[in-house]
Amino acid sequence: MSRVFVSARIPEDIVSPLLRLAEVDMWEGEGTVSREALFERLPGCDGWLSMLTDEIDEEILDIAPGLTVISQMSVGVDNIDVEACRARGITIGHTPDVLTETVADTAFALMAAAVRRLPEGEKKVRAGEWGPWDPWRFLGGDLHGAVLGIVGMGRIGQAIARRAAGFDMEVLYTSRSDGSVGGLVRVGLDELLGRADIVVLAVPLSPETHQMIGERELGLMRPGSVLVNVARGPLVDTAALFAALDSGSIGAAALDVTDPEPLPSDHPLLTLGNCLVVPHIGSASVRTRRAMAGLAVDNLAAALRGDPMPAPLPEPE
Ligand code: NAP
Ligand code: GLV
Repeated sequence: MSRVFVSARIPEDIVSPLLRLAEVDMWEGEGTVSREALFERLPGCDGWLSMLTDEIDEEILDIAPGLTVISQMSVGVDNIDVEACRARGITIGHTPDVLTETVADTAFALMAAAVRRLPEGEKKVRAGEWGPWDPWRFLGGDLHGAVLGIVGMGRIGQAIARRAAGFDMEVLYTSRSDGSVGGLVRVGLDELLGRADIVVLAVPLSPETHQMIGERELGLMRPGSVLVNVARGPLVDTAALFAALDSGSIGAAALDVTDPEPLPSDHPLLTLGNCLVVPHIGSASVRTRRAMAGLAVDNLAAALRGDPMPAPLPEPE
C-alpha cells in the first residue's frame, strides 16, 4: 500500500477517499507541520498533501526519494522548487478555480475597508472616541467610479474585474500576454500605477515578480491611492511600503499577505493607522477551504491510482 503524509488536519469526510488507497499519516497539531517534523515523517512516503507553508526544496526532497506526487492545497506553488520536483519525476497538483471567487470577494472586502477607512473608524468607536457626529470626520474615498488597476489578469484578476463592473469602476490591468481580456484596457505597470485609485495585486510570486512593487513603483502611485495585496507578500518591498504609508505618499494599504508572514505583532506596519493587515485569509470561507481540501485529495488519489489529476500544475510554456 502507498504511504502519504498530509501537512495539516483535513476533515475525515474529505480525506476518506485517500484512506482506501494509502496509509495516511496526517499532521495532528495546530496549523501546519514544522520542518523538523517533516524530516521525521516524510521518509518512506510516496505522496504528500502539502500546504503553502511547506518549503519544498532539494533538501526536503532528498529525505523522501520515493515521492511520486505532491498535491498542494493552494493555487500558488511558489513554496515548491518545481524544477527540482520535475527532475525527480514528481507530479504536482494544486487547487485553482475552487477558490477564485472567494479570493475576489476578499479583495473587495479589503478595498472597501481601506477606501472607506473602516478599521480606523471601528478603532475610534472601541476607544470611546466616536465623539459628536461631524460632517467632516472619518471621510474616505469611494469604490464606485474609482479607477481599479489589476496586476495579473488571471482567474482571480478576472473575478475581481467582474465585481468591479457592478461598482461602475474603470478597470485597467497588466499581464505579460498580448490581447485584451473581456474588452478591458491592458496597460504597462507604470501607467497602471500612475492612473489607478486602487491597485490590486493578483499575480503569482516568481523570480520575475519578487518585489515588483518597490520604492520606485510606490512613488508612481497617485496621492491618496490604495494598494491591496491578495497574492503573495514578497511581491512588495515591505520597507518601501512602510515608508510610502508613513509619509502619506500613498493613502492606504490593505494586505491579506505580508513579507514576512506571519507579521510579528511589533512590526512597524502595524503602528500605522492606514495599513490594514489580515492573516492570509483570502480563500478562508468554510465552503472554499473544504473545496480546496477536496480537490487536493482528489489530485493525490488520482495520481496514486495512476490516473490524470483533475488539477495538475500546468507544464511551463
Ligand atoms: P492565474 O490564473 O495563473 O493568474 C495569474 C495571472 O498573472 C496570469 O494571468 C498571468 O498572465 C499574470 N502574470 C504572471 N506574471 C505576470 C507579470 N510579471 N506581470 C503581470 N501579470 C503577470 O492565478 P490565480 O488563480 O489568479 O492566482 C494568482 C495568485 O494569487 C496565486 O499564484 C497565489 O499566489 C495568489 N493567491 C492568494 C490567495 C490568498 O489566500 N491570498 C488565494 C489564492 C491565490 P500572463 O501569463 O499573461 O502574464
Ligand atoms: C493561497 O494563498 C493560495 O495560493 O491558494
